[in-house]
Amino acid sequence: MNRRPLGRTGLSVSEVGFGAWGISGAQWIGATEDESLRALHRAVDLGLNLVDTALAYGDGQSERIIGRLLKDRQADEVQVATKIPPQNLVWPASPDVPVSEVFPSDHIARACEKSLRNLDVERIDLLQLHVWHDRYLDQDGWRDALLGLKKSGKVRFVGVSVSEHDADSALRAASSGLFDAMQILYNIFDQRPSDRLLPLCLEHGVGVLARVPFDEGGLTGTISPESTFPEGDFRAGYFAGDRRRQVWQRTQALKTLLDGEAKTLPELALRFCLSHDAVATVIPGMRKTSRVEENCAAGDGRRLSPGLLAALKRHAWPRNFYEADE
Ligand SMILES: NC(=O)c1ccc[n+]([C@@H]2O[C@H](COP(=O)([O-])OP(=O)(O)OC[C@H]3O[C@@H](n4cnc5c(N)ncnc54)[C@H](OP(=O)(O)O)[C@@H]3O)[C@@H](O)[C@H]2O)c1
Repeated sequence: MNRRPLGRTGLSVSEVGFGAWGISGAQWIGATEDESLRALHRAVDLGLNLVDTALAYGDGQSERIIGRLLKDRQADEVQVATKIPPQNLVWPASPDVPVSEVFPSDHIARACEKSLRNLDVERIDLLQLHVWHDRYLDQDGWRDALLGLKKSGKVRFVGVSVSEHDADSALRAASSGLFDAMQILYNIFDQRPSDRLLPLCLEHGVGVLARVPFDEGGLTGTISPESTFPEGDFRAGYFAGDRRRQVWQRTQALKTLLDGEAKTLPELALRFCLSHDAVATVIPGMRKTSRVEENCAAGDGRRLSPGLLAALKRHAWPRNFYEADE
Protein backbone atom coordinates (compact mmCIF):
# COMPACT_ATOMS: atom_id res chain seq x y z
CA MET A 1 0.00 0.00 0.00
CA ASN A 2 1.35 3.40 -0.99
CA ARG A 3 1.60 6.09 1.70
CA ARG A 4 1.30 9.87 1.55
CA PRO A 5 2.10 12.64 4.00
CA LEU A 6 -0.92 13.84 5.97
CA GLY A 7 -0.41 17.55 5.36
CA ARG A 8 2.23 19.03 7.63
CA THR A 9 1.63 16.57 10.49
CA GLY A 10 4.65 14.40 9.72
CA LEU A 11 2.35 11.35 9.66
CA SER A 12 2.56 9.07 6.67
CA VAL A 13 -0.82 7.52 5.95
CA SER A 14 -1.99 4.75 3.64
CA GLU A 15 -3.72 5.93 0.48
CA VAL A 16 -6.71 3.82 1.47
CA GLY A 17 -7.96 4.28 5.03
CA PHE A 18 -10.82 2.50 6.83
CA GLY A 19 -14.15 4.32 7.20
CA ALA A 20 -15.58 2.82 10.38
CA TRP A 21 -19.10 4.29 10.53
CA GLY A 22 -20.60 1.10 9.04
CA ILE A 23 -19.14 -1.21 11.69
CA SER A 24 -20.90 0.61 14.52
CA GLY A 25 -23.98 -1.62 14.42
CA ALA A 26 -26.22 1.46 14.41
CA GLN A 27 -27.56 3.30 11.33
CA TRP A 28 -25.81 0.75 9.10
CA ILE A 29 -27.47 -2.55 9.88
CA GLY A 30 -25.86 -5.92 9.34
CA ALA A 31 -22.27 -5.80 10.53
CA THR A 32 -21.20 -8.21 13.25
CA GLU A 33 -18.41 -7.31 15.63
CA ASP A 34 -16.29 -10.34 14.74
CA GLU A 35 -16.63 -9.83 10.99
CA SER A 36 -15.79 -6.12 11.39
CA LEU A 37 -12.72 -6.98 13.43
CA ARG A 38 -11.60 -9.49 10.79
CA ALA A 39 -12.03 -6.80 8.12
CA LEU A 40 -9.97 -4.32 10.15
CA HIS A 41 -7.16 -6.84 10.70
CA ARG A 42 -7.11 -7.78 7.02
CA ALA A 43 -6.85 -4.09 6.10
CA VAL A 44 -3.89 -3.56 8.42
CA ASP A 45 -2.26 -6.75 7.10
CA LEU A 46 -2.54 -5.18 3.64
CA GLY A 47 -0.73 -2.03 4.77
CA LEU A 48 -3.66 0.21 5.76
CA ASN A 49 -2.66 2.39 8.72
CA LEU A 50 -5.48 4.92 9.19
CA VAL A 51 -8.92 4.25 10.63
CA ASP A 52 -11.61 6.93 10.83
CA THR A 53 -14.28 6.60 13.50
CA ALA A 54 -16.37 8.80 15.81
CA LEU A 55 -17.73 8.74 19.33
CA ALA A 56 -21.18 9.06 17.78
CA TYR A 57 -20.87 5.85 15.74
CA GLY A 58 -23.01 3.42 17.71
CA ASP A 59 -22.44 5.43 20.90
CA GLY A 60 -18.78 4.41 21.01
CA GLN A 61 -19.21 0.89 19.61
CA SER A 62 -17.11 1.58 16.48
CA GLU A 63 -14.35 2.99 18.71
CA ARG A 64 -14.53 -0.03 21.03
CA ILE A 65 -14.09 -2.45 18.10
CA ILE A 66 -11.08 -0.42 16.96
CA GLY A 67 -9.76 -0.60 20.51
CA ARG A 68 -9.85 -4.39 20.18
CA LEU A 69 -7.89 -4.12 16.93
CA LEU A 70 -5.23 -1.91 18.52
CA LYS A 71 -4.69 -4.43 21.34
CA ASP A 72 -3.52 -7.02 18.83
CA ARG A 73 -1.32 -4.76 16.68
CA GLN A 74 2.05 -3.10 17.20
CA ALA A 75 2.18 0.33 18.84
CA ASP A 76 1.83 3.04 16.18
CA GLU A 77 0.94 0.50 13.48
CA VAL A 78 -2.51 2.14 13.15
CA GLN A 79 -3.35 5.84 13.35
CA VAL A 80 -6.85 6.52 14.67
CA ALA A 81 -8.91 9.54 13.70
CA THR A 82 -12.04 10.05 15.77
CA LYS A 83 -14.58 12.84 16.25
CA ILE A 84 -16.23 14.88 18.99
CA PRO A 85 -20.01 14.88 18.46
CA PRO A 86 -21.86 18.20 18.64
CA GLN A 87 -23.33 18.53 22.17
CA ASN A 88 -26.77 19.29 20.67
CA LEU A 89 -26.47 16.20 18.43
CA VAL A 90 -27.53 18.15 15.36
CA TRP A 91 -25.95 17.41 11.98
CA PRO A 92 -25.12 19.51 9.98
CA ALA A 93 -24.23 22.58 12.05
CA SER A 94 -26.83 25.32 12.03
CA PRO A 95 -25.76 28.96 11.54
CA ASP A 96 -28.26 29.98 14.26
CA VAL A 97 -26.80 27.87 17.07
CA PRO A 98 -23.69 29.38 18.70
CA VAL A 99 -20.62 27.21 19.15
CA SER A 100 -21.06 27.56 22.92
CA GLU A 101 -24.07 25.21 22.58
CA VAL A 102 -22.32 22.86 20.16
CA PHE A 103 -18.74 22.54 21.41
CA PRO A 104 -18.52 24.02 24.94
CA SER A 105 -15.12 23.35 26.50
CA ASP A 106 -16.35 20.87 29.13
CA HIS A 107 -18.09 18.86 26.40
CA ILE A 108 -14.88 18.75 24.34
CA ALA A 109 -12.93 17.48 27.35
CA ARG A 110 -15.57 14.88 28.29
CA ALA A 111 -15.92 13.57 24.73
CA CYS A 112 -12.16 13.19 24.40
CA GLU A 113 -12.00 11.20 27.66
CA LYS A 114 -14.78 8.90 26.47
CA SER A 115 -13.01 8.26 23.16
CA LEU A 116 -9.74 7.55 24.96
CA ARG A 117 -11.57 5.02 27.14
CA ASN A 118 -13.41 3.38 24.23
CA LEU A 119 -10.22 3.05 22.21
CA ASP A 120 -8.31 2.12 25.37
CA VAL A 121 -5.37 4.35 24.43
CA GLU A 122 -3.56 7.23 26.11
CA ARG A 123 -3.44 9.43 23.03
CA ILE A 124 -5.65 10.02 20.00
CA ASP A 125 -3.83 10.61 16.72
CA LEU A 126 -6.39 12.92 15.13
CA LEU A 127 -9.39 14.41 16.95
CA GLN A 128 -11.91 16.11 14.68
CA LEU A 129 -14.94 18.29 15.36
CA HIS A 130 -17.82 16.27 13.92
CA VAL A 131 -19.62 19.37 12.59
CA TRP A 132 -18.29 22.69 11.46
CA HIS A 133 -19.72 26.13 10.69
CA ASP A 134 -17.68 29.06 9.43
CA ARG A 135 -19.11 31.26 12.20
CA TYR A 136 -17.31 29.17 14.85
CA LEU A 137 -14.05 30.83 13.82
CA ASP A 138 -15.29 34.15 15.21
CA GLN A 139 -16.63 32.64 18.45
CA ASP A 140 -14.66 31.66 21.54
CA GLY A 141 -14.78 28.73 23.94
CA TRP A 142 -13.93 25.73 21.81
CA ARG A 143 -10.50 26.83 20.57
CA ASP A 144 -8.53 26.71 23.83
CA ALA A 145 -10.23 23.48 24.87
CA LEU A 146 -9.38 21.72 21.62
CA LEU A 147 -5.83 23.04 21.31
CA GLY A 148 -5.32 22.38 25.04
CA LEU A 149 -5.83 18.66 24.37
CA LYS A 150 -2.87 18.85 22.01
CA LYS A 151 -0.74 20.60 24.61
CA SER A 152 -1.66 18.02 27.25
CA GLY A 153 -0.55 15.19 24.94
CA LYS A 154 -3.97 13.50 24.88
CA VAL A 155 -4.30 14.34 21.19
CA ARG A 156 -1.60 14.60 18.53
CA PHE A 157 -3.48 16.51 15.85
CA VAL A 158 -6.83 18.26 15.47
CA GLY A 159 -9.16 18.64 12.54
CA VAL A 160 -12.69 19.24 11.36
CA SER A 161 -15.21 17.19 9.49
CA VAL A 162 -16.56 19.57 6.87
CA SER A 163 -20.34 19.73 6.24
CA GLU A 164 -21.45 17.52 3.39
CA HIS A 165 -21.90 19.29 0.06
CA ASP A 166 -20.68 22.59 1.55
CA ALA A 167 -16.92 22.58 1.05
CA ASP A 168 -16.73 26.36 0.90
CA SER A 169 -17.90 26.58 4.51
CA ALA A 170 -14.40 25.49 5.54
CA LEU A 171 -12.32 27.87 3.42
CA ARG A 172 -11.43 30.21 6.28
CA ALA A 173 -10.81 27.24 8.59
CA ALA A 174 -8.37 25.75 6.07
CA SER A 175 -6.24 28.89 6.04
CA SER A 176 -6.63 29.63 9.79
CA GLY A 177 -3.59 27.56 10.78
CA LEU A 178 -5.67 25.98 13.58
CA PHE A 179 -6.32 22.63 11.97
CA ASP A 180 -3.91 19.89 10.96
CA ALA A 181 -6.44 17.94 8.90
CA MET A 182 -9.87 18.10 7.30
CA GLN A 183 -12.27 15.39 6.39
CA ILE A 184 -14.12 16.34 3.20
CA LEU A 185 -16.93 14.69 1.24
CA TYR A 186 -15.34 14.28 -2.18
CA ASN A 187 -16.38 11.88 -4.90
CA ILE A 188 -17.16 11.60 -8.63
CA PHE A 189 -20.66 13.00 -8.08
CA ASP A 190 -19.58 15.92 -5.87
CA GLN A 191 -16.30 17.27 -7.24
CA ARG A 192 -16.82 20.82 -5.93
CA PRO A 193 -14.15 20.61 -3.19
CA SER A 194 -11.57 20.69 -6.01
CA ASP A 195 -12.68 24.23 -6.97
CA ARG A 196 -11.35 25.96 -3.86
CA LEU A 197 -11.07 23.90 -0.66
CA LEU A 198 -8.66 21.19 -1.82
CA PRO A 199 -6.18 23.66 -3.40
CA LEU A 200 -6.32 25.73 -0.20
CA CYS A 201 -5.62 22.66 1.97
CA LEU A 202 -2.63 21.86 -0.23
CA GLU A 203 -1.34 25.43 0.05
CA HIS A 204 -1.64 25.46 3.86
CA GLY A 205 -0.43 21.92 4.54
CA VAL A 206 -3.80 20.72 5.86
CA GLY A 207 -4.02 16.92 5.49
CA VAL A 208 -7.14 15.75 3.65
CA LEU A 209 -9.19 12.63 4.34
CA ALA A 210 -11.55 12.15 1.38
CA ARG A 211 -14.77 10.72 2.79
CA VAL A 212 -17.86 9.05 1.30
CA PRO A 213 -15.94 8.12 -1.88
CA PHE A 214 -18.81 5.83 -2.96
CA ASP A 215 -21.66 8.28 -2.32
CA GLU A 216 -22.83 5.93 0.48
CA GLY A 217 -22.64 2.97 -1.90
CA GLY A 218 -24.26 4.54 -4.98
CA LEU A 219 -20.97 4.86 -6.86
CA THR A 220 -20.17 1.16 -6.42
CA GLY A 221 -22.93 0.29 -8.91
CA THR A 222 -24.68 -1.98 -6.38
CA ILE A 223 -27.67 0.31 -5.84
CA SER A 224 -30.48 -0.42 -8.30
CA PRO A 225 -34.22 0.39 -8.43
CA GLU A 226 -34.81 -2.99 -6.73
CA SER A 227 -32.42 -2.40 -3.81
CA THR A 228 -33.92 -2.73 -0.33
CA PHE A 229 -32.37 -1.93 3.04
CA PRO A 230 -32.91 -3.43 6.49
CA GLU A 231 -35.23 -1.55 8.84
CA GLY A 232 -33.34 1.21 10.64
CA ASP A 233 -30.60 1.42 8.00
CA PHE A 234 -29.86 5.04 7.16
CA ARG A 235 -29.65 4.23 3.44
CA ALA A 236 -33.41 3.60 3.35
CA GLY A 237 -33.78 7.38 3.55
CA TYR A 238 -30.67 8.30 1.57
CA PHE A 239 -31.81 6.17 -1.38
CA ALA A 240 -35.56 6.74 -0.86
CA GLY A 241 -38.21 6.96 -3.56
CA ASP A 242 -36.97 7.52 -7.09
CA ARG A 243 -33.39 8.13 -5.98
CA ARG A 244 -32.31 4.50 -6.54
CA ARG A 245 -33.36 4.70 -10.20
CA GLN A 246 -31.53 8.00 -10.67
CA VAL A 247 -28.37 6.57 -9.11
CA TRP A 248 -28.63 3.44 -11.24
CA GLN A 249 -28.88 5.46 -14.44
CA ARG A 250 -25.85 7.54 -13.47
CA THR A 251 -23.72 4.52 -12.67
CA GLN A 252 -24.71 2.77 -15.91
CA ALA A 253 -23.37 5.83 -17.75
CA LEU A 254 -20.16 5.75 -15.68
CA LYS A 255 -19.56 2.12 -16.59
CA THR A 256 -18.81 3.17 -20.16
CA LEU A 257 -15.58 4.75 -18.83
CA LEU A 258 -14.25 1.52 -17.33
CA ASP A 259 -11.13 0.27 -19.09
CA GLY A 260 -7.47 -0.40 -18.29
CA GLU A 261 -7.26 2.52 -15.86
CA ALA A 262 -10.05 1.23 -13.66
CA LYS A 263 -11.83 -2.07 -14.23
CA THR A 264 -14.67 -1.64 -11.73
CA LEU A 265 -16.75 1.24 -10.43
CA PRO A 266 -15.38 1.01 -6.85
CA GLU A 267 -11.84 1.15 -8.25
CA LEU A 268 -12.74 4.14 -10.44
CA ALA A 269 -14.34 5.94 -7.47
CA LEU A 270 -11.32 5.43 -5.20
CA ARG A 271 -8.75 6.30 -7.87
CA PHE A 272 -10.71 9.46 -8.66
CA CYS A 273 -10.25 10.70 -5.07
CA LEU A 274 -6.60 9.68 -4.96
CA SER A 275 -5.86 11.52 -8.21
CA HIS A 276 -6.01 14.88 -6.42
CA ASP A 277 -2.68 16.05 -4.96
CA ALA A 278 -4.36 17.42 -1.83
CA VAL A 279 -5.85 14.07 -0.83
CA ALA A 280 -3.69 12.11 1.61
CA THR A 281 -6.08 9.20 2.10
CA VAL A 282 -9.51 8.05 0.96
CA ILE A 283 -11.67 6.37 3.62
CA PRO A 284 -14.28 4.01 2.12
CA GLY A 285 -16.74 2.42 4.50
CA MET A 286 -15.92 -1.31 4.74
CA ARG A 287 -17.35 -4.13 6.83
CA LYS A 288 -16.12 -7.31 5.14
CA THR A 289 -12.69 -8.68 4.22
CA SER A 290 -13.73 -9.07 0.57
CA ARG A 291 -14.44 -5.31 0.33
CA VAL A 292 -11.22 -4.53 2.16
CA GLU A 293 -9.17 -6.58 -0.28
CA GLU A 294 -10.81 -5.01 -3.31
CA ASN A 295 -10.49 -1.45 -2.01
CA CYS A 296 -6.95 -1.68 -0.65
CA ALA A 297 -5.76 -2.70 -4.11
CA ALA A 298 -6.53 0.85 -5.28
CA GLY A 299 -3.83 2.22 -2.97
CA ASP A 300 -0.96 1.35 -5.30
CA GLY A 301 -0.01 4.94 -6.14
CA ARG A 302 -1.46 4.90 -9.66
CA ARG A 303 -3.50 7.97 -10.64
CA LEU A 304 -6.12 8.43 -13.34
CA SER A 305 -5.02 10.12 -16.58
CA PRO A 306 -5.97 13.77 -17.27
CA GLY A 307 -8.18 12.50 -20.13
CA LEU A 308 -10.20 10.22 -17.84
CA LEU A 309 -10.45 12.91 -15.13
CA ALA A 310 -11.81 15.32 -17.75
CA ALA A 311 -14.38 12.72 -18.81
CA LEU A 312 -15.37 12.20 -15.15
CA LYS A 313 -16.04 15.92 -14.76
CA ARG A 314 -19.01 15.45 -17.06
CA HIS A 315 -20.45 12.88 -14.61
CA ALA A 316 -20.56 15.28 -11.67
CA TRP A 317 -24.04 15.27 -10.11
CA PRO A 318 -24.20 17.62 -7.16
CA ARG A 319 -27.33 17.30 -4.98
CA ASN A 320 -28.02 16.53 -1.33
CA PHE A 321 -29.52 13.12 -0.55
CA TYR A 322 -28.89 13.66 3.20
CA GLU A 323 -31.96 15.89 3.03
CA ALA A 324 -35.30 14.11 3.08
CA ASP A 325 -36.88 13.11 -0.21
CA GLU A 326 -39.90 15.28 -1.02
N1 LIG B 1 -19.91 13.70 8.93
C1 LIG B 1 -18.88 12.89 8.88
O1 LIG B 1 -17.87 13.16 9.49
C2 LIG B 1 -18.96 11.63 8.07
C3 LIG B 1 -20.11 11.34 7.33
C4 LIG B 1 -20.12 10.20 6.55
C5 LIG B 1 -19.01 9.36 6.52
N2 LIG B 1 -17.90 9.67 7.26
C6 LIG B 1 -16.69 8.79 7.25
O2 LIG B 1 -16.42 8.41 5.92
C7 LIG B 1 -16.44 6.97 5.82
C8 LIG B 1 -16.90 6.54 4.43
O3 LIG B 1 -18.22 6.92 4.19
P1 LIG B 1 -19.44 5.90 4.25
O4 LIG B 1 -19.01 4.65 4.91
O5 LIG B 1 -20.57 6.64 4.84
O6 LIG B 1 -19.81 5.67 2.71
P2 LIG B 1 -19.03 5.18 1.42
O7 LIG B 1 -17.62 4.83 1.76
O8 LIG B 1 -19.26 6.19 0.36
O9 LIG B 1 -19.86 3.88 1.03
C9 LIG B 1 -19.96 2.75 1.87
C10 LIG B 1 -20.75 1.68 1.12
O10 LIG B 1 -19.95 1.20 0.04
C11 LIG B 1 -19.96 -0.22 0.06
N3 LIG B 1 -18.69 -0.73 -0.46
C12 LIG B 1 -17.46 -0.56 0.06
N4 LIG B 1 -16.53 -1.13 -0.73
C13 LIG B 1 -17.20 -1.70 -1.77
C14 LIG B 1 -16.80 -2.45 -2.89
N5 LIG B 1 -15.53 -2.71 -3.14
N6 LIG B 1 -17.77 -2.90 -3.74
C15 LIG B 1 -19.08 -2.63 -3.52
N7 LIG B 1 -19.52 -1.92 -2.45
C16 LIG B 1 -18.59 -1.46 -1.58
C17 LIG B 1 -20.15 -0.61 1.50
O11 LIG B 1 -20.59 -1.91 1.47
P3 LIG B 1 -21.18 -2.76 2.68
O12 LIG B 1 -22.62 -2.30 2.79
O13 LIG B 1 -21.03 -4.16 2.24
O14 LIG B 1 -20.38 -2.41 3.89
C18 LIG B 1 -21.13 0.46 1.95
O15 LIG B 1 -22.45 0.08 1.62
C19 LIG B 1 -17.36 6.54 6.97
O16 LIG B 1 -17.23 5.18 7.29
C20 LIG B 1 -16.90 7.49 8.04
O17 LIG B 1 -15.67 7.06 8.59
C21 LIG B 1 -17.85 10.80 8.02
